[in-house]
Amino acid sequence: MKKTLLLMLMSTALAMTNVTAHEAHAAEKDPVKKAIKARQAAMVLRSWYAGPLFGMAKGDIEYDSEWASALAGSLKAELAMTGRGMWPEESDYENYPDESRSLPELWLDPEGAQEAGMAYADAVNEMANAAGEGLGALRSAVGQLGQSCKGCHESYRAE
Ligand code: HEC
Repeated sequence: MKKTLLLMLMSTALAMTNVTAHEAHAAEKDPVKKAIKARQAAMVLRSWYAGPLFGMAKGDIEYDSEWASALAGSLKAELAMTGRGMWPEESDYENYPDESRSLPELWLDPEGAQEAGMAYADAVNEMANAAGEGLGALRSAVGQLGQSCKGCHESYRAE
């Protein structure tokens, strides 16, 4: 009798352990969360490479044509990386409030979002041509670049 009870308790405990382990595993493997992380990583890279370009344009960082050129080239390289699968449906901040700041508008207005992406690509290409050609050239391209980040964030990113 006692032995049976103990066995029952043990198997319940084991079952519970299994559920918890399984849930933790499932959370780690949530493909949507992975996708959100990946797109945020791409954004972090954009910010990392664009930051010193903004700094040079403002005069906070000394202009260095080689570095400027490499930074702009890196923005261009990031654009060439595939973002396929990084923006699955219903991965906005309303569905993933702890993970994402993407507004649902990003999916509701795909044309607008695509335009914002194209404006950014244009700005990056302009910057890639200009960045190594002197501070004046960098400065003339930097406004469009900054505006393209900001424009998209204003429409499609939550505060
Ligand atoms: C076409 C739209 C678009 C463009 C262009 C864009 N972003 Fe973003 N960015 C987003 C969206 C949407 C998010 C929110 C992603 C999420 O949390 O799901 C974001 C998030 C970010 C984040 C936060 C990342 C994190 O760790 O959560 C940074 C930093 C950022 N962007 C920087 C930039 C910079 C710098 C540029 C320009 C050089 C840029 N972005 C261009 C749409 C854009």
